[in-house]
Amino acid sequence: MAPVAQRPRGTQDILPADQLYWQEMTGAAEAIATARGYQRIDTPTFEATALFVRSAGETSDVVTKEMYTFPDRGGRSMTLRPEGTAPVVRAYFEAGLDRERQPVRLYYIGPFFRYDRPQAGRFRQFHQFGVEAIGDAAPGLDVEVIALGWRWFASLQLSGVSLQVNSIGDAACRPRYREALRDYYRPYLDALSEQDRSRFERNPFRLLDSKDPDAVALQANAPRTLDFLCDACRRAFAEVERGLEQGGIPFTVNPQLVRGLDYYTRTAFEFWHESLSGAQNSLGGGGRYDGLAADLGYRDTPGVGFALGLERTATILKSREIGPAIYAVAVEESARPLMHELAEALCQRGLAVMADVSNARLDAKLGRASKMHARLALLVGLQEDAGDHVTVRDMRLKKQESIHRDRLLLHVLDMLAEPPAETT
Ligand code: HAM
Repeated sequence: MAPVAQRPRGTQDILPADQLYWQEMTGAAEAIATARGYQRIDTPTFEATALFVRSAGETSDVVTKEMYTFPDRGGRSMTLRPEGTAPVVRAYFEAGLDRERQPVRLYYIGPFFRYDRPQAGRFRQFHQFGVEAIGDAAPGLDVEVIALGWRWFASLQLSGVSLQVNSIGDAACRPRYREALRDYYRPYLDALSEQDRSRFERNPFRLLDSKDPDAVALQANAPRTLDFLCDACRRAFAEVERGLEQGGIPFTVNPQLVRGLDYYTRTAFEFWHESLSGAQNSLGGGGRYDGLAADLGYRDTPGVGFALGLERTATILKSREIGPAIYAVAVEESARPLMHELAEALCQRGLAVMADVSNARLDAKLGRASKMHARLALLVGLQEDAGDHVTVRDMRLKKQESIHRDRLLLHVLDMLAEPPAETT
C-alpha cells in the first residue's frame, strides 16, 4: 500500500543532520539579542485575519495571495501568521508594555506561513529570527537594530552579505512622491502588465519592485524617494547613515528599495546575499513602522525592527567552508600521545578539534588541515623544548608561533577571536 501522505508542498523536515545549523542560528540569535537587552516574546501562530489585512496592507501580495486563512468552528476568520511585526505590536499593547520604560526591545524565533508557489528559498512554512524595538522614534534605534542583524551574520561567519538601506518617507512627504511616480509611469501604462497597471492605481511604490521585464526597464529612471523626503525624514536618514558609518557597518544606499509590506515609514533595509539571485536574494529585511500602531487602532507609537529568514540563511551556512577550529597533528610518531592529550584538553574547553591519526608525512597532514578548512593547526613534537612548547599555525595567514603548553588555551582563544579575513 502506498503511504497515505507525504510532506505538504512547500514545507521541510529539519532532519538531525541539519539541526547543527539550526542550533547555530538560534543560539547566535539568543546570545546577540539578549546581550543587547532584547527580551524574548512568543505570540500565537494564528491571529484574527483583520490584524494582517490592516497591517500588511490590503493590496500587498501577502494579503491578496499568500495568507492561510480559515474560519474557526465559531465562524471567526483566522490566519496563520505570515509575519511577526503586527502580532508583536498587538501583544505590546494588550500586555500593557506601552506603560513600561520605552523603548521596549523584543525578539522572537519561530515559524511563519505564506501560501506562495514554492521554489528555491521560498517555502509555505518558514522560520524567522526577528526583533522589534517599540516606543522610540530616534534614528539611533534604527542603527541599533540594523547593527544587531549585521552582528548576527558576522557571528555565523557568513561572508557575502550586503546591507541595502533606503528611506521611503512618511505621511508628510510620501503623497508627493506617489504622485511623481504616477506621473512618470502614466505614459507607459499600455506597455505594463495587468498586475502592474493595478499597482499603478493602488500602490505605485510596488512598481519599483516589479519583476515584469517591461516594468524593470522603466525602474532605472523612475523618481527616487530620497529626492522627495521632507526635512524631518531627510534629517533622520542622515542620522542613520552617520550611525552606521560610526559603527563601522558597510552599507549601500539603494533608492530602489521598497518593501513588500505596507506598514513601513522612513528607514527600510534588507540584507542581501551574493549567492542568492532574483526575487529571493534577501536574507532578511525590516524598517521603521511609525504608523502601524495607529493603523491597528492603538495609540500612535513608533517602532523599528527586522526579520531574518532562517531557511535561506541555513542554505548558505551549509555551503560555507568552515572546518574544525583546530587540526592537531603529531610531528613525529612518538609525540602522538601528547598530541591526543592536548587535543582532548582543548576539546573539553568547548573547541572543535580534529586530531590526525594517520602515519602520513607532516606536509601531507598540513595539506589535510587546509582541505578541512581548519582555522589553526596544532603541531606537537617532542623536539621542541622536550614537548613543553607546541607550534600553532594560522592556516589562513600562514603564520606560526611556538607557544608554551601552559599558555596554549589562552593563545588559541585569542587567535580564534580574530575575525576570519573575509568577514567584515
Ligand atoms: P519580510 O521581508 O516579508 O519581512 O520577510 C523577512 C524575511 O523572511 C525574508 O527576507 C526571507 O528571508 C524570509 N521569508 C519571507 N517569506 C519567505 C518564504 N515564503 N520562504 C522562506 N523565507 C521567507 C517581514 O516579515 C517583516 N515582519 C520584517 C520586519 C520586522 N519589519 C519590521 N520588523
